Amino acid sequence: MKKTDLAWWQKTIAYEVYPKSFLDTRGQGTGTIAGITSKLDYLASLGVGALWITPCYKSPMVDNGYDVEDYYQIDPSFGNMVDMDELFARGREKGIRMVMDLVFNHTSEMCPWFVESRSSRDNPKADWYIWRDARPDGSAPTNWRSIFGGSAWEWCEERHQYYLHTFAPQQPDLNWECPEVRKALFDIANYWADKGAGGFRIDAITYIKKPAVFEDGPVDGEDGLSAVHAATANTPGILDFLHEFKAAVRDGRDIFMVGEANGVGPDELGEWVGEHGVFDLLFEFSHSHVPMGEAELWCRPAQWKLTDLKRALTASQVATATNGWYPAFFENHDQPRSTVNYFRCGGPLDAKAKALGTVLLMQRGTPFLYQGEELGYGNAQWTSLDQFDDVQSHGQYDFAISEGLSAKEALAACNRFSRDNARTPMQWDASDNAGFTTGTPWLPVHPDYAQVNVAAEEADPDSVLNWYRTLAALRASRDELVAGSYEELLADSEQVYAYRRQGEDSVAVMLANLSDETATYDASLVEGMGLLAGTHGSTETGTLRPFEAVVFGS
Ligand code: GLC
Repeated sequence: MKKTDLAWWQKTIAYEVYPKSFLDTRGQGTGTIAGITSKLDYLASLGVGALWITPCYKSPMVDNGYDVEDYYQIDPSFGNMVDMDELFARGREKGIRMVMDLVFNHTSEMCPWFVESRSSRDNPKADWYIWRDARPDGSAPTNWRSIFGGSAWEWCEERHQYYLHTFAPQQPDLNWECPEVRKALFDIANYWADKGAGGFRIDAITYIKKPAVFEDGPVDGEDGLSAVHAATANTPGILDFLHEFKAAVRDGRDIFMVGEANGVGPDELGEWVGEHGVFDLLFEFSHSHVPMGEAELWCRPAQWKLTDLKRALTASQVATATNGWYPAFFENHDQPRSTVNYFRCGGPLDAKAKALGTVLLMQRGTPFLYQGEELGYGNAQWTSLDQFDDVQSHGQYDFAISEGLSAKEALAACNRFSRDNARTPMQWDASDNAGFTTGTPWLPVHPDYAQVNVAAEEADPDSVLNWYRTLAALRASRDELVAGSYEELLADSEQVYAYRRQGEDSVAVMLANLSDETATYDASLVEGMGLLAGTHGSTETGTLRPFEAVVFGS
């Protein structure tokens, strides 16, 4: 396969913006769409051609926009549709297409659809959401625990029924069985595609199909509840809905769709992506479950080794080798910072960030960077629960306490895994609030911003940011780094992650020492090749210093 055989979105680098934390142009403490537009040149310098913007539609912001009130309006805190059109247009000029986030499993409770649906049992939208009667004793229909904690059912006085919410009570689940719901959702996607969106990231998509019979699941915590995820994720029949979605929105357009698919493993990718699948790419989370654990209970983190992480990443590569395409990522707005998450040893964050960045950007697939990842900062340091904004962090804290952990231990679990670690403001320069806002930032700026920021890193040739730029340019310049195959090397090593990218006329080998001790490898793996890039500037073969990453090629 050659680069020329691939679609534009397979050859580019994608970048995720969390608009609330990116750049505030109004001094209000939260980011704006105009802020994103003003940084398009910065994004272009990283080789970005697709910009995923997390939801910026009108929303009460219980879950920072993942609770949508109106999919056809921009939330006033971000600006308005004129600003959005401007972002689309300026992006187009610079070769950056916007990727809209479609939250289609649920809406906000303030969405007019839900307001109508909840008003009675016989209004026109009565079955647009998942309504069920109480059990004879008045309790919730099942023992499911929502992903954000507490029961997944909320009582509605007007209807004398419960509604299902996989996430927060303010995020009622839509009923995809209802054809009018599907049509309304497909219309929204087509509206944004007609505007020129380059693609869609489809939120929480594995939850849209509910089981035919709602039953209690096995209790997995002291709260007496069972994860809603186990009962509803990836239910048979879901792909029929998604094929309909694809036909209504994707077919005939030069766009891509990437699904967020918690609950789909590498072995199922064939049905989900590629020629016979429903999406072009799929975010599956087998590698992020390595440190966090499959149950995603922060107070029960997993014990893991580097080989577990490598095995997960390689399984996803193998699954997409001849079908579909892989979205490579370590960070997003739901994950802790990768410099903390994917290392079991201490050591300088900038060195860790460069090593992991090399692993990410040399992978086969479209790399998805998350804002700030290219600067290499770590998790924030939270000292009390009330500093967390994230709705999930509060739920995880309560669960940890219900499991018998002390307040200190529960806080430590949130510090380690909280989504707010990824949501602190973008660090632009060393001025007040890291240049993010002239007002009061909605989340505290990371304490290291005076050293770790875009301006300082642009000026430092050895910075993480400049290393990312080097890698992005290298990737763009070599056919095998985009189109070549992936073959893992040194699979048993607990220190080094290594793989070969074999193209039709060229080859590259990436080796990254993800440990804090010197590592050795068989130099014949890179025999006859030259150094294309190296974090330590050394051309030596056979040895890697702590956190050293190299790319050889010929
Ligand atoms: C997805 C989003 C997350 C959000 C959830 C509910 O997992 O990435 O941020 O809270 O869906 O919409």
